[in-house]
Amino acid sequence: MKSSRDVALTDLEPGVEQMRDEVVDGLMQRRKTISSKYFYDLRGSQLFDRICELDEYYPTRTELGIMRDSIDEIAELTGPSCLLIEFGSGSSLKTRILLDHLKEVAAYVPVDISKAHLLASAKEVNADYPTLEVLPVCADFTAQFEVPECDRPIEKRLLYFPGSTIGNLQPDKAVDLLRNAVETCGPDGGMLIGVDLKKDAAILERAYDDAAGVTAAFNKNVLVRLNRELGADFDVDQFQHEAIYNDEKGRIEMHLRSRRAQVVRVGGTEISFEAGETIHTENSHKYSISEFAALASAAGFTVDRVWTDAKRWFSVQYLSVD
Ligand code: TRP
Repeated sequence: MKSSRDVALTDLEPGVEQMRDEVVDGLMQRRKTISSKYFYDLRGSQLFDRICELDEYYPTRTELGIMRDSIDEIAELTGPSCLLIEFGSGSSLKTRILLDHLKEVAAYVPVDISKAHLLASAKEVNADYPTLEVLPVCADFTAQFEVPECDRPIEKRLLYFPGSTIGNLQPDKAVDLLRNAVETCGPDGGMLIGVDLKKDAAILERAYDDAAGVTAAFNKNVLVRLNRELGADFDVDQFQHEAIYNDEKGRIEMHLRSRRAQVVRVGGTEISFEAGETIHTENSHKYSISEFAALASAAGFTVDRVWTDAKRWFSVQYLSVD
């Protein structure tokens, strides 16, 4: 039996230079942006876990409910001896439903950008499933990376991509990621993916701007991180959290709005803000079932099965390679 210490990490975490270059580049655009992958330092990952428990934030509990209700069918479709690869594994909460019900999971490969969080949850999974081989990879899953070899023989690769994280990419980038996923899981492989669905804008805006201010703290934490890791000098209180549904693009947009004209230094570069100017920090696209099927098919997947909740707020979908 393995001890809970010896999970072997594949470390492809972006370095501080890459972060500085990407962040400065994004802040020098006419419309300022910061990539959402930089939300997830340890504090950001903890705040995100709290978002998932908020009353207003319906996706996590709705997706968990769909997974629990449909797990027998999911296990039937995916079959035995899968290599389970998870993108954006975070705290690996939903994964446990799969680990408890799929037949003979060959190994579990959690992939996440937040190294500390990834290692902590990989160790917890390892402790709770002592016979399971856990092979964490710290990487940006929108880039190609090599899947580690596992000890046991596998029937197929199953990619698990919950949380509607696919919605955080622009539709063309979502297709790129799905194309990579087709490569990663190979001709016999499949993908189980959580996709948030279109609904009333007021429900959406509440989900991304909760009364307790946890999402606001999460959004602003990226500035705290840049101050600490890049020596930037953002006055965090001079930025305001904003979440707006853009109906035309079918997405929630998160911004940090500058309360006044100000100049901020980031990695040796001066960035000036006008009063009211925003940094665009996140998109969360919402799809209809047919819109998402079109993305999947453009990438070389067929949607074999769609499970939803009674209100049709969220979907879990099984895609197989064409
Ligand atoms: N994939 C999640 C979503 O778009 C990520 C997320 C949830 C998120 N809440 C957030 C990202 C708040 C930024 C801010 O729903």
